[in-house]
Amino acid sequence: MKDVLIIHAGAGTWRHINIDDVVNVIEKSLKAGIEALKPGGALEGAVAATKALEDSGILNAGVGSVVDITGKVSMDAGVMDGGSGRAGAVASVTYPKNPVILARKVMELTDHILLAGPDADKFAIKLGLEKHPGPSEKAMKRYRDILSRGEEGVPYRKSFKLALELGLHDTVGAVAVDSSGRVAAAVSTGGVIMKFPGRVGDSSIPGAGFYASQTGAAVATGIGETIIRSFLTLRAVELMGEGYSAETSAKLAIMKHTSISGPNTAGLIVVRYDGDFSAAFNTEAMPWGFITSEGEMGVMGLPKRKL
Ligand code: GLY
Repeated sequence: MKDVLIIHAGAGTWRHINIDDVVNVIEKSLKAGIEALKPGGALEGAVAATKALEDSGILNAGVGSVVDITGKVSMDAGVMDGGSGRAGAVASVTYPKNPVILARKVMELTDHILLAGPDADKFAIKLGLEKHPGPSEKAMKRYRDILSRGEEGVPYRKSFKLALELGLHDTVGAVAVDSSGRVAAAVSTGGVIMKFPGRVGDSSIPGAGFYASQTGAAVATGIGETIIRSFLTLRAVELMGEGYSAETSAKLAIMKHTSISGPNTAGLIVVRYDGDFSAAFNTEAMPWGFITSEGEMGVMGLPKRKL
């Protein structure tokens, strides 16, 4: 069986961004992921691809993360290995440049699943992980623009409205299956723009933002609070476990999600142990792509207009 890697750059309306840049980042990340997947297996590939997306600087994760209402970056990430059922995650971290690497370390080096806040940052420092450079110029410009609209103070319940209005994309992630049929998931995010400090989304919660079992893996993107309500990835993976195709599982999961939280809220990518894969979203767009060890590659889910 061939190796397959699927990644996404986030669900949203994708306004205010050059989509060609996004396609370039997706292709580069797919190549980085499949290079790691071939010798290393599904988890290696999913983490390497997610790290490349975090490093791109143009997506809402890692160095490109959006800021909270105080102008600071805090990030969530998670990984899960379907073969062992083990997961690792971090929430509200500020230190690591690559939260997905720290999430993997939590899975591999501790008895725990989720580490949060300053103590998770201390763990990253202890491990010698690379330091995050702080909010990007672009993130700070957007922050200042929002404040200049007179929305400073405590914008209770403005975060989701702003995310939609500004056309922001959200979260990055990868799912993979290797030649032995073992699947894995990895996800990383800067969270929703203008969130409360301390807010944690779906990307550090197994079953919500990411999930993997022996039959399939899924990662989600979108407004975290809605994804936590629907346990979107657990739902999709359970459907694959019941024998549904990747496409049907993704579609049924997003339909159920939409019936709970409405449209413009989420998307997901899924892969099954036999290499079947798919994606579904209820937003205008969710750029995603796939690559196989046999050299097939594709990018889909782009916004209809050309910017
Ligand atoms: N989906 C990422 C978040 O809401 O934090």
